[in-house]
Amino acid sequence: MTEVAFVNNEFVSTQQAKVSVFDRGFLFADGVYEVTSVLDGKLVDNSGHMARLNRSLSELNMPWPLSPEEIVELQRQLVSRNHVHEGTVYLQITRGSAPRDFAYPKKPEPTLVMFSSSRPLVENPAAITGITVITTPDIRWARRDIKTVGLLAASMAKQSALDQGADDAWFEEDGVITEGTSNNAFIVDAQGNIITRQVGHKILAGITRSSVMALCQSEQYHLVERPFTVAEAHEASEAFVTSASTFVLPVVSIDGHRIGN
Ligand code: PDD
Repeated sequence: MTEVAFVNNEFVSTQQAKVSVFDRGFLFADGVYEVTSVLDGKLVDNSGHMARLNRSLSELNMPWPLSPEEIVELQRQLVSRNHVHEGTVYLQITRGSAPRDFAYPKKPEPTLVMFSSSRPLVENPAAITGITVITTPDIRWARRDIKTVGLLAASMAKQSALDQGADDAWFEEDGVITEGTSNNAFIVDAQGNIITRQVGHKILAGITRSSVMALCQSEQYHLVERPFTVAEAHEASEAFVTSASTFVLPVVSIDGHRIGN
């Protein structure tokens, strides 16, 4: 089966999907993205992803290439054309192609790219074994709340974690954890409080984070939104990460400190 992607206003095979070398996403990381999970062929929490996309675009003063409703319809078509039963839909909007100039183009023509991936999300082996993480200095920029494609620091941190034999990294800044390379970080303390950093410019407001927080509340767990220290993380009774592509994954070791049993 030939996988299709959406680019330049049409569905084409992924081999033929191309963008210009002058695309500002390529030259300046001047683009934003969303990853929505698909379960039973349906988009999960997609209204939250579209709301966050709207916020990312407006923070960067970037126009929508199509209306949000049209984009959701295209996401559904992509899922259907690629027969995605379980997996993800990736969506990226950039400020488009323009002669290379640090200033924004006067009349931007945004690029919209979408592709999908089929893979098991619920039967994820890491959900059984848990993952190991190391902490690493947060060298990312100051507006991590905007979901831009400027992901080099996250990529470096992930690779460094793998090189050190861990599965992922948690970013640390001023002695406290911000978030994971591509997920939000949670710990549970000895009293059973579930702790995660409050949203703001320092972290991405995860959509899965919000869903998990709503579940915590409905199940009457005590949830605290505050920064937690690296030492608190090392001593946590439990820890986990949340993201659209992995839902909730247990963390079983932080910097070599075993978490829970
Ligand atoms: N990453 N924090 C960061 C830095 C992220 O990149 C992500 C998601 C999250 C979790 O957000 P959400 O629950 O909305 O997926 C938090 C996606 C999955 C990615 O880049 O592939």
